[in-house]
Amino acid sequence: MTFFSKLQSLFSPVIRSLLFQEEKKFHNISTLLALLKQKDWMPEFHTIATAGTEPETIIEGKRVLMFASNNYLGLSTRPEVIEAASKALRVHGIGPGGSRFLCGNIALLEQLDRVTADLVGMEDAITFPAGYMANTAIFKALLDPFIGPFPHKKGAAEIYSDEYNHGTIVEGCRISYANKVSFMHNDMSDLQRKISSSSAYPKMIVTEGVFTPEGHFGKVQEIASIAEQHRAILMIDDAHGIGVIGKNGEGTVAHLGLCDKVDIVMGSYDKALGGMGGFLAGKKEVIEYLRVVARPYVFSSAVSGVVAGGVIEAIRICKQEPELRERLFQNSSYIRKELHNAGFTILGTPNVPVVCLLIGDETRAVQFSRMLLKQNIYCPSFRWPAVPKGKSRLRITLMATHTKAHLDQLLESLITIGKQEKLIV
Ligand SMILES: Cc1ncc(COP(=O)(O)O)c(C=O)c1O
Repeated sequence: MTFFSKLQSLFSPVIRSLLFQEEKKFHNISTLLALLKQKDWMPEFHTIATAGTEPETIIEGKRVLMFASNNYLGLSTRPEVIEAASKALRVHGIGPGGSRFLCGNIALLEQLDRVTADLVGMEDAITFPAGYMANTAIFKALLDPFIGPFPHKKGAAEIYSDEYNHGTIVEGCRISYANKVSFMHNDMSDLQRKISSSSAYPKMIVTEGVFTPEGHFGKVQEIASIAEQHRAILMIDDAHGIGVIGKNGEGTVAHLGLCDKVDIVMGSYDKALGGMGGFLAGKKEVIEYLRVVARPYVFSSAVSGVVAGGVIEAIRICKQEPELRERLFQNSSYIRKELHNAGFTILGTPNVPVVCLLIGDETRAVQFSRMLLKQNIYCPSFRWPAVPKGKSRLRITLMATHTKAHLDQLLESLITIGKQEKLIV
């Protein structure tokens, strides 16, 4: 061992990485990695051998119960969906051939636009290969269009965004050049105070229909009346409400009868609909405009035919089988009730497919999740910065396809580990 390496070994990995960084090319990378490893916060990427969307899966050679997949209705592997996707695959191949703007406007994608708009009760919809792209498209397209300052002056717009909004919304706001004003989570008086004291034009408000890390709903009705009062553009990210909320899975906005008050409904195909991709739905004129201005739509490839074929069938089943939602909510209510009775702190409200069990400390949450995996249960922890510091939690995601035996195995493991870790007595 050289004198220099002996000296280095006297310090913790994080201090070492900060003190001796002149040796390294990527300072921030080594500091971050050292910090994550020291705190035991490094995510573990387990290798899944079978469908990760099924209640039972194979992880590193072991049969494991899956409580992390957003495939809420179990549609990802439904035989009819696979058949529809296979049919589209045979016709269209695996890719769309490019941006729809240039060469990818296949009839199946036009059908997907129509059935999506129809599901959520809006006039038209534009689709993207990821929900992430929808959220990074919308703010810039509406508030900083590429055709110079028309119709608004660059940087003049203000976006009022719930502080707990998803990272993709945060990213979309950041690249829009608009001024982002965060309001306290679901706090209507904070939003009202901030929007009333501003003379910015235009104004836009964005919130979520269902906040899954909190396990509860956004205040869509109240926000719609504030938006109306201030003539603000209103967008609801309903990634976790589509397929889950409402009689036919129409999502939060149509379920609350607010289609004429909400300008943009954002949704994702990769949660309850079991596919992948995302959309923005709204008035015909707005969607027509987005088709020429939304940069991820113009500059990136379209949704593939195979995904479109599968999702169209998934939407059909979602509308026709309300019993899938009933089963999902029975499952989430059962877990919520039993965990509450066992003495755990459970966040949120019923009728949300995700049940969040509060642990608090970041390291304890990571360890709890690891102990569950040893007992063949896959259930990740959510910790800072995804949720506030000291409010780490297990995010238990239920599906309509979980059986009572799956749920009871989960409960038994949670209660055993909870007692062992003194979270409950
Ligand atoms: C609330 C919310 N919005 C948007 C997205 C992004 O959607 P996608 O996964 O389709 O990119 C997610 C993904 O988890 C989400 O939870």
